Amino acid sequence: MKKVTILAVESSCDDTSASVVSDGYVLSSIISTQKIHIPFGGVVPELASRAHMANIIPVVEAALKESGTGMDEISAVAFTRGPGLMGSLLVGVSFAKGFALARDIPLIEVNHLQAHVLVHFIKRTENGSGIPGFPFLCLLVSGGHTQIIVARDYFDMEVIGTTIDDAAGEAFDKCGKVMGLPYPSGPVIDKMASGGNPDAFRFAKPSVANLDFSFSGLKTSFLYFLRDSLKNNPSFIEENKPDLCASLQKSIVSILTEKMIMAAEKTGIKNIGLAGGVSANSALREMFIREGNKRGWKVYIPDIRLTTDNAAMIGIAGYYRYLRGIFSSHAAGPSARFGF
Ligand code: KG4
Ligand code: ZN
Repeated sequence: MKKVTILAVESSCDDTSASVVSDGYVLSSIISTQKIHIPFGGVVPELASRAHMANIIPVVEAALKESGTGMDEISAVAFTRGPGLMGSLLVGVSFAKGFALARDIPLIEVNHLQAHVLVHFIKRTENGSGIPGFPFLCLLVSGGHTQIIVARDYFDMEVIGTTIDDAAGEAFDKCGKVMGLPYPSGPVIDKMASGGNPDAFRFAKPSVANLDFSFSGLKTSFLYFLRDSLKNNPSFIEENKPDLCASLQKSIVSILTEKMIMAAEKTGIKNIGLAGGVSANSALREMFIREGNKRGWKVYIPDIRLTTDNAAMIGIAGYYRYLRGIFSSHAAGPSARFGF
């Protein structure tokens, strides 16, 4: 049977990425992370779209080259339709349409959030080991989203819990900013926390009903605690950085884990995974493995390089859509609030 080979592009935020996925296996995944935003402490949308325009062609060329795939071997082109930044999305959408038109191949739109969940369905072995069964319960935690998702099928997903204010990644980034850490602060906090005491300080815990999350209270509590401590000791942050990072990380991880335990009990689902940029966090990964062992879950932790935004996840989503014959028209435009 002829191979199904997908060229995928992802440009929803500040990573320009391209990947080649063939019969469900990732042959290449190139990610160019835009450094231009670092001095601003967050993503500047206009700068992001300009950088995508400069990066998209070299990134696609690199992905084709690394995979050893010729343009004539591509069966379809998949792209992120949304959610994301409008100007950023537009670059990937326009590239994909141009490529599909030039090669006369199908176009496949992908929902960025579904794609984060679908990294768990990338093939690695012939017998499909390591791939979760359905239903699959996934905690999607990134700089923009914090959601508990029930996946009943590749494209039958339901959000059963979400943040009512900040995302988990934002909690890391905003608290990091207060401590004077560079953006994005999540990875820096993770690293510093390894040398600190997670029980050194305690911060306010949210009390949100059902499976929803809230992180704004924690952020305020962290801010006030630092403000008061700095009054007595102007070097408080410098002297306590590892302990502050470890304690903050413990608070965020326990908020996330408690809700996942509730969700697992409520749904009865035991196939449980993590996805999104914050799922690179070492304490969160360890906590899921520990809780999973205790509760008889089958836990799925993504490879680090598949946690943050990448086109391999768009490629695998595109592959499963291709198999079902779900294609998009050239009228499909970017959608900043694309739902599923
Ligand atoms: O999925 P992602 O690359 O982009 C979005 O769609 O938002 O996630 C980026 C987020 C940032 O907030 C970053 O601080 C966080 O993921 N992050 C981490 C770690 N690595 C990335 N947070 C905590 N620990 C980490 N190791
Ligand atoms: Zn993302």
